[in-house]
Amino acid sequence: MVIKIKKICCIGAGYVGGPTMSVIADNCPEISVNVVDINHERIDAWNSENLEDLPIYEPGLKEIIKRCRGKNLFFSTNLENNISSADMVFISVNTPTKTKGVGAGKASDLKWVEASARQVAKYASKHTIVVEKSTLPVRTAEVIKKILTSAELQSDNHNEISFDVLSNPEFLAEGTAINDLEKPDRVLIGGENEIAMQALANVYLSWVPANKILLTNIWSSELAKLTANAFLAQRISSINSIAAICEATGASVREVSRAIGTDNRIGSKFLNSGPGFGGSCFKKDILNLVYLSSYFGLNEVANFWESVVNLNNWHQHRISKLIVKKLFGTVTGKKICILGFAFKANTNDTRESSSINICRDLLDEGAILFIHDPKVNANQIAIDLGSKENQTLLNKKNNLNLNEGEWCFANTVEEGFKESDAIVILTEWEEYTHINWSNASKEMRKPAWVFDCRSIISDEDICGSNLNFWRIGDGSKTNNI
Ligand code: NAD
Ligand code: UGA
Repeated sequence: MVIKIKKICCIGAGYVGGPTMSVIADNCPEISVNVVDINHERIDAWNSENLEDLPIYEPGLKEIIKRCRGKNLFFSTNLENNISSADMVFISVNTPTKTKGVGAGKASDLKWVEASARQVAKYASKHTIVVEKSTLPVRTAEVIKKILTSAELQSDNHNEISFDVLSNPEFLAEGTAINDLEKPDRVLIGGENEIAMQALANVYLSWVPANKILLTNIWSSELAKLTANAFLAQRISSINSIAAICEATGASVREVSRAIGTDNRIGSKFLNSGPGFGGSCFKKDILNLVYLSSYFGLNEVANFWESVVNLNNWHQHRISKLIVKKLFGTVTGKKICILGFAFKANTNDTRESSSINICRDLLDEGAILFIHDPKVNANQIAIDLGSKENQTLLNKKNNLNLNEGEWCFANTVEEGFKESDAIVILTEWEEYTHINWSNASKEMRKPAWVFDCRSIISDEDICGSNLNFWRIGDGSKTNNI
């Protein structure tokens, strides 16, 4: 028996639901793809005429939206109709770390997943394949299955309503989401019923080669997603720990990365030292793994993974302390230009961005921050920093130092450079690689510093600019060039 999918509903129109469903719609014109969300504002933004107003920025996304929206890709708040008529429902809602109750600070909060399962149970009208797209703790499928099974039993037409639950974790990275979805390293499908698994595999087979589609059991699929993120984050903490040793010893982390990356067993990717990993998932997924390990009494395993997060926190604060130290031990009343607030380039996402902790530390020390980012707006920064922007800073010609511990949004990098004591690069946006450092230097108060936390400035770029230059993991870059 083969189940042919004609209509898909995705619950959750976020950083995963939006791009994932857009790529499915683009590659499967015969399937009607309906993305639903309880957040009206977000759905309005997805339906916006002006494609610059889409709720998330992702290279290549707006072109797909232009091609498919209104044809076989729809965004709406109507959960009832779209769930009821779907053959397959993806659950793609947020799963943040719990803030209270049992497991607070580590376990995932599954209330949105449970609510989604209950909505499916309530509105489904026929056999429905339910797909976990959200990242979930091991054995969550069991919970979803229990909720759906009780709905099956309660229903008047229980001969027609039935469910299969599959796990299909998403491995896309923000900023490269469309490419990752178009050409995935693998698509993982975990489940029990081979017919349901094949139905989902057939959707992907429209554009993904068969040898990249891995079928497995549901628990291994759930655990594989947490493990992949834990391994990736662990690499970043590892290389950032080496960066600190490099700075102490005069070695260069870029050279160390190059040397170890040529070993096929290690590989060259994910070895860039930076200001610490951010993003909505690495920390939350590792903490989830920590919680799971402790739950099963595996305390050494829990400690091992928790150290990856601890090192990351330490590393972020290490950078802010270092900036203060280089600026003669105080940044009170000093103007510092922050370049980049997103957690990485090519996204407008700031969740868990290292910029948040580093900026907060500097504000606590009394610095005046001019923050620039090409895609993040001032409102978002205010939410993340927990303090309002002081726009009058932009027009002040002098006495800026009276505003210690305040910040404003710099509309251009030049606005940030003027009379500043330091420039701190926190996100590797392409436009920051083209800065003319001699011109920037002329605008700054001397002695002036550039802190390159992303290793995007070369020695040639900055040579002769009369700027003090510090680069992450570079033991030789502490003096005037
Ligand atoms: P997000 O917060 O951007 O989006 C989630 C959306 O779900 C929100 O718009 C919210 O309003 C909606 N929602 C919540 N409950 C709902 C309900 N009951 N009915 C309808 N809509 C509801 O989250 P995200 O970044 O897209 O992440 C979603 C999941 O995917 C998480 O589990 C995350 O770990 C995982 N994931 C994220 C990424 C990423 O790059 N962001 C990558 C892989 C996996
Ligand atoms: C990450 C994973 O790469 C995805 O496979 C996964 O699907 C996703 O998490 C998720 O589950 O949410 P993402 O967080 O979007 O994707 O972005 P990454 O490219 O992994 O970067 C994460 C953080 O690590 C960023 O702050 C980035 O700047 C930092 N990073 C990355 C480094 O500091 N150095 C590197 O070499 C690579």
